[in-house]
Amino acid sequence: MERRELLRMLASAGALPLLAPLARAAGTSDDWQTQFEAAGAAWKAGFATPEGDFPLTRATVRGHFPDAVAGTLFRIGPAGHDLGGERYHHWFDGDGMVHRFVIEGSDVRHQGRYVATPKRVAETKAGRRLFEAFGTMPPGVETPTSADSINVANTSVLPLRGEVLALWEGGSATRVDALTLDTLGVKTWRADLAGMPFSAHPKVDPDGTVWNFGVSSGQGLLALYEIAPEGALRRAAVVPVADMPMVHDFAVTKRHLVFLLPPLVYDGKRKEAGASFLDAHVWRPELGMRALVIDKRNWERRQMLALPAGFLFHVGNAWEEDTPRGTQIHVDYVRSDNADSVFISNREVMRARRVKTTEPHLTVATLNLSTERATQATLAQEAEFPRIDPRRVGLRHRQVVHATQIRRDLPGFGAIARTDVETGRSQRFSYGAQAMVEEHVFVPDGSKPGWVLGTAFDFGRQKTMLSCFAADNLAAGPVAQATLPYALPLGLHGAFVPA
Ligand SMILES: [Fe+2]
Repeated sequence: MERRELLRMLASAGALPLLAPLARAAGTSDDWQTQFEAAGAAWKAGFATPEGDFPLTRATVRGHFPDAVAGTLFRIGPAGHDLGGERYHHWFDGDGMVHRFVIEGSDVRHQGRYVATPKRVAETKAGRRLFEAFGTMPPGVETPTSADSINVANTSVLPLRGEVLALWEGGSATRVDALTLDTLGVKTWRADLAGMPFSAHPKVDPDGTVWNFGVSSGQGLLALYEIAPEGALRRAAVVPVADMPMVHDFAVTKRHLVFLLPPLVYDGKRKEAGASFLDAHVWRPELGMRALVIDKRNWERRQMLALPAGFLFHVGNAWEEDTPRGTQIHVDYVRSDNADSVFISNREVMRARRVKTTEPHLTVATLNLSTERATQATLAQEAEFPRIDPRRVGLRHRQVVHATQIRRDLPGFGAIARTDVETGRSQRFSYGAQAMVEEHVFVPDGSKPGWVLGTAFDFGRQKTMLSCFAADNLAAGPVAQATLPYALPLGLHGAFVPA
């Protein structure tokens, strides 16, 4: 693509089409807030709105956190779910709150702060919602002036050169000070890329190179980014994708970028008719799951392979090998039969309702780039929030750490597991009947088996816990556990930075 043409496309490629929303008229506030407040479920505190920031607070610690996990676990998630009597209708809508858990032996301190995005600042000042959200059109909202005017910075974090980037897939990353959690403003990788979508699951190669993408739904464009280990943008471009779906995560191998495209396709006409961004998407299983493979060095070299229809948020890892049958990519991901979780269960939690939808399972797909044939096998494990050893990104790996154990009476998961994606063997630790598990990360420890570190919400005690497990013996339970004197809103993703 000519550079001039690229710039023209980028300039017109905001993440979200900026149409005048046809929201409910102001003053017609619905009753989700009332329903949430009236619900009796103890777990609903995981979806409540903290009144303000959490100042640095010392946790009660049992055991001793190993030296390898001395450092900071950053986490983020939607937290500002309601404002002015109006409650969002989707878990993913809320204003982001970023957390840091500072870990040193038997001392653990926690701090949490709302990300002061322009949207949050304006709405807090107004005392009401001013803009549309991912899955909600609040009454009387204004037309957004840019994708970043509705950026909630609530999905994931990328530590980079002493800062933490708070990520949201519809717009720019937001810079946050790693020590104070002060919001420093949006990250602009290059002047002509200002406001471009920068997704929430960048991948970091073992050499430190950062790869990421962004979806411009209205324009049917996939933006690609390559960032040097020192944080400078090396390359960015956009490639067209027909029937652009919702894409939340991707994978890298040594030589390729791998996108699994679920058949949840953006329809601009629905947006024009007043739908939220989520509800502008249509489930079109006849398209199947497409696997788009792009050469890392030459983004013009692309292949599209076909898999059976399915939905995913998250990819674990991918790696490639040259075999007598051709070049094969192995990619593991968390597959559901359909997208009901994003449309139904992740919505209903906002009025404290548990609705069971199709269960996600770890699935391993094999993409043969020579024959352009793809196959997949689903493992037995229910799963979400897959994480791997960060040293194995894009390389052959076997172990995936993930949440598991879906319960009938609660949303989310009750146990943490580590599964070998080649043998299907799995070990787990269940947090018990009164807890909801959040994402756990793998922390390497030289040539030793390493550690698994993550948070869970003990709704029996209404407290959030941070636990550390020996990665090769999850079943033995935590080697150390820190309990906060309060509950945090359930979050999405995190990243560990060693001291
Ligand atoms: Fe995610």
